[in-house]
Amino acid sequence: MPAAAPVKIHYAREAGVEVEEFRRVLVESGLGAIRPVGDAARLATMLANSNVIVTARRDDAQGTLVGVLRGMTDQAWCCYVSDLAVATSAQGLGVGQGLLAEARRQLGPQVSIILVSVPEAVGFYRRAGLEDLPNAFWIRRMR
Ligand SMILES: CC(C)(COP(=O)(O)OP(=O)(O)OC[C@H]1O[C@@H](n2cnc3c(N)ncnc32)[C@H](O)[C@@H]1OP(=O)(O)O)[C@@H](O)C(=O)NCCC(=O)NCCS
Repeated sequence: MPAAAPVKIHYAREAGVEVEEFRRVLVESGLGAIRPVGDAARLATMLANSNVIVTARRDDAQGTLVGVLRGMTDQAWCCYVSDLAVATSAQGLGVGQGLLAEARRQLGPQVSIILVSVPEAVGFYRRAGLEDLPNAFWIRRMR
């Protein structure tokens, strides 16, 4: 039996994505459990105020969204990544790493990338070469 063809994924920085496809990827990745996926208006605001949205889309007729990285940058110093999510159907194919690589390529060498990982993804970020920050601080949102 011939080997299955590798899955082809297109990475791009997009001006925006539809709220519904963003919501779907959050849910399908599992990250929806800790994102406001039941509040379309809040998701829309999150997207509208993000100036870094990197997408991973399948090479199919619809360009199905299977992964997204969302963040905010000043384009000159740092970028805070708020979401990185890959749909379960596309996990383990290098898509998460591909989204990070595309974000780094788009942002360039003078911009650092900073994020807060969920405990389950710490190993992924270490594998991707991100450094642990022992001196990071935050104020938790209340809702
Ligand atoms: C974490 C996540 C983004 C990783 O994306 P992915 O496309 O499955 O990961 P990749 O295929 O790019 O993996 C790259 C490497 O990291 C490893 N890896 C992937 N997920 C890992 C994890 N949770 N822990 C440790 N290593 C992991 C892979 O085995 C692979 O290693 P290899 O280079 O030796 O083959 C994805 O699993 C996801 O969306 N999870 C749910 C949401 C989430 O936790 N997001 C992060 C929020 S901070």
